[in-house]
Amino acid sequence: MTKADKIEYGTFEATVERSRKLEEDLAVNPGKYRVLTGDRPTGSLHIGHLFGSLQNRVRLHALGVETFIVIADYQVLTDRDTFEMISENVKQLTLDYLAAGLDPSDGKTFIFPHSHVPELNQLLLPFLTLVTNAELDRNPTVREEIQASGQKRINAGMYTYPVHQAADILFCKGNVVPVGKDQLPHLELTRVIARRFNEKFAVRRPVFPEPQPLLSNAPVILGLDGAQKMSKSRNNAIMLRATEDETAALIKKAKTDADRTITYDPENRPEVSNLLLMISLCTGREPAQVAAGIGDGGAGTLKKMLTETLNEYLRPLRKRRAELESNLDHVRQVLRDGIAEARRVGGKTLEEVIDVMNMGI
Ligand code: TRP
Repeated sequence: MTKADKIEYGTFEATVERSRKLEEDLAVNPGKYRVLTGDRPTGSLHIGHLFGSLQNRVRLHALGVETFIVIADYQVLTDRDTFEMISENVKQLTLDYLAAGLDPSDGKTFIFPHSHVPELNQLLLPFLTLVTNAELDRNPTVREEIQASGQKRINAGMYTYPVHQAADILFCKGNVVPVGKDQLPHLELTRVIARRFNEKFAVRRPVFPEPQPLLSNAPVILGLDGAQKMSKSRNNAIMLRATEDETAALIKKAKTDADRTITYDPENRPEVSNLLLMISLCTGREPAQVAAGIGDGGAGTLKKMLTETLNEYLRPLRKRRAELESNLDHVRQVLRDGIAEARRVGGKTLEEVIDVMNMGI
């Protein structure tokens, strides 16, 4: 059995270690890499996204790495019936990207919805022939999403979207994919597809790279309930687009505990520690140091400090966002430019693919 015959997940620790090495090399050789990452347009983003994925993208981009950001609008159709909001959500997502500091005007960042890039979508067809039903059925992330969706009838798009995601990544020969842990099975599948494609069709001159995951070391932010990951659907999130008053009201209602003395103890005091962590992310001060400063000032003082710190930290971002929102032509132009570049790059890849598959005429 050759290596390409099996999907190997490897250990998480090994992935973390490879990711760390990759991180080092990115700083030294940014020109060797093309980052491809993306989101589903299911709504606007919250501060969990900002401190997690968005700032990481801005940082990579600042190293001089070319960055493609795919808005995976087709993927929205896999686990929900509603589609009415997709276009509005694409707009909101793009506003959040731009406000957070991703800047396409440097000609190295491209933002585009994949529905507008036929060259990308066409790769789905050959890619589907490189994986088995059993492999798609085993994908742990897909299994979890099926459970979470609560749907009785699971559409075939749900099982096959990881293959579509491989097309998202490989159409532009992306070789670095910043993702969270839940996306690792999809990335492993992408690597398998790249490898099998090359081994079957392009032995002499490989067409696709085997892209590497880049795990961010940003801490996970819990929601204001202190119980689960921050998420809009769990109603425990502070949205980037929220006003300062809305932010204050949300923080006021955040869950804390009965101990008046504030300490940083994520294990035993997750709610209070999470609020301290947010202050820490805005100020660069250690959470324990922030806690010591509050002492027995209690949860009231903690919340007041967080409200002021967070609103101040987000003020420039929110100002930029409001300006951009009043000029949606700019947002539309960003997407048009992103689509044009994605189609250009995807067209070149598709030509190579058709050629090596012996489908040229
Ligand atoms: N599946 C990803 C998510 O649900 C979104 C996504 C689509 C993506 N295509 C991608 C992420 C390509 C990284 C690379 O969040």
